Amino acid sequence: MEALRIIQDEHQSLAAIIHAIRYMIKEIGAGNLQPDFRLLRAMVHYLDAYPEKKHHPKEDQYLFSLLKRHTTEGADAIARLEQEHAAGDARIKALEAAMHQYASGARDGFDAFAEAFNHFAEFYRNHMLLEETVILPLVKKHFTAEDWAAAEAGFRENADPMGGTGEPQTHEDFKRIFSRLVAAAPAPIGLGGGPYKDDRTLIARRRALMTGELTGLALRPCAGRRNV
Ligand SMILES: [Fe+2]
Ligand SMILES: [Fe+2]
Repeated sequence: MEALRIIQDEHQSLAAIIHAIRYMIKEIGAGNLQPDFRLLRAMVHYLDAYPEKKHHPKEDQYLFSLLKRHTTEGADAIARLEQEHAAGDARIKALEAAMHQYASGARDGFDAFAEAFNHFAEFYRNHMLLEETVILPLVKKHFTAEDWAAAEAGFRENADPMGGTGEPQTHEDFKRIFSRLVAAAPAPIGLGGGPYKDDRTLIARRRALMTGELTGLALRPCAGRRNV
């Protein structure tokens, strides 16, 4: 049943990011928070790169297709979920377009982004609910030992965001991305360490410190030490 644990963990990670974005939208709308577009963009990218591109294909391949071999139970739900998986690109494009409008200062950009994101969040709530209340019980009922072995191998191959993925140079390291999103998100949903810095920003900053381009920042620790 390791596959079920993995799938539920992945749903929780997805729900956490969605909750974080919803919270930030609420706080921005109330005037309590300045938008951190880098962080919002990174979160939307995460929603595309992990759930849309990795999680759903695993469900198609290791849950739905195996289940369909044994039963027609849940056929309508599977058909609907497969259709929703296939529409992933359009879903993310709509969200990215709304984000772009908002970030470029379009009139009503914030309201349109908030509406687009609420729509996205509502979609995911229903999608995951259907998987967890209809599909997972059927999987438990019909899967054979061979099915479990195949599903577990498939799900582990690209484990959840908490577990990370292969080489950071060749694949995105979702564990690292997830941790960084949490660290940058405002409290109480995150650790409040924002603004968000992506890999490129951090590498450029490290280089600048090493070459002395950020002299003031680089020298500060030394100046402190001199006074000790
Ligand atoms: Fe799904
Ligand atoms: Fe799912």
